[in-house]
Amino acid sequence: MKVTVVGAGAVGASCAEYIAIKDFASEVVLLDIKEGYAEGKAMDLMQTASLNGFDTKITGITNDYSKTANSDVCVITSGIPRKPGMTREELIGINAGIVKTVSSNLIEFSPETIIIVVSNPMDTMAYLVHKSTSLPKNKIIGMGGALDSARFKYRLAEALQGPISDVDGMVIGGHSDTGMIPLTRLATRNGVPVSEFLSAERLNEVLEATKVGGATLTKLLGTSAWYAPGAAVSAMVQAIACDTKKVFPCSALLEGEYGFNDICLGVPVVLGKNGIEEIVKITLNDAEKATMQESAKGVKAVNDLL
Ligand SMILES: NC(=O)c1ccc[n+]([C@@H]2O[C@H](COP(=O)([O-])OP(=O)(O)OC[C@H]3O[C@@H](n4cnc5c(N)ncnc54)[C@H](O)[C@@H]3O)[C@@H](O)[C@H]2O)c1
Repeated sequence: MKVTVVGAGAVGASCAEYIAIKDFASEVVLLDIKEGYAEGKAMDLMQTASLNGFDTKITGITNDYSKTANSDVCVITSGIPRKPGMTREELIGINAGIVKTVSSNLIEFSPETIIIVVSNPMDTMAYLVHKSTSLPKNKIIGMGGALDSARFKYRLAEALQGPISDVDGMVIGGHSDTGMIPLTRLATRNGVPVSEFLSAERLNEVLEATKVGGATLTKLLGTSAWYAPGAAVSAMVQAIACDTKKVFPCSALLEGEYGFNDICLGVPVVLGKNGIEEIVKITLNDAEKATMQESAKGVKAVNDLL
């Protein structure tokens, strides 16, 4: 399994590190446009190999896509991150050009690859890759829901005062502060609905804290977060590499599912060796359906800016 990660910045390097530490890939190529940057990050990471006990080979490259040839999975993290007070949508002007060029370069050398889009505004960037390349729809996957769900579980565990490993829950919809939909109704603590433990008011606080999870960190850090985003991508790459068929909420091109067409939106999918093996259709209640409509409207408005 060869994985290319474009963008050796905060998220790209964190993603490469987690993939290497989990030791399921033979090679990770880290590529950046900044001269020597990916080479430096790769060398630093390789010097953790004997300490962290992995054999994955990490190579750093400055903008030479021939070195990415025959990658099974490519992750696009290149582009600018948001600063405090910015929305993800404000990044579209710069990031659309980068994502379009990068995806076409990747496919030239790895025509069979699966692409995971991370750069923001992610749902629109995933849609752009669908529109500007000829990859089949199962091979273009946006990462947002896996991260937002991890943040949701963190907030739930905090409210429950219990371990995160006891908590399960999912965030669907658009990857934006206003678009994401933490499914509080379906979240569980060891199989028991969380509403058995938490009041509606406390659950609403969890929901709101989850939605601004990225903005909260951006304010604290002065730039957007990287550990959890990197871990979320690596978990998705692992599911593909190991053909686990695990369910993740991912931004997938919808053709009628959930009543939407011609849009990439966060929905539960089964990930395996073919990328998106299946879009899972869950039954939403009327309130959730209405929120999903609003979320899709927001993503469409950003798509229109393309
Ligand atoms: N989808 C998500 O859940 C999620 C989570 C966190 C961050 N992000 C997004 O991921 C992106 C990266 O964030 P970051 O914090 O790693 O930023 P960063 O600035 O640390 O890293 C971005 C890297 O991309 C490189 N780059 C820019 N243009 C390039 C090009 N044409 N080819 C190759 N490399 C190029 C830069 O040199 C830089 O090293 C941002 O758009 C951010 O908003 C998405």
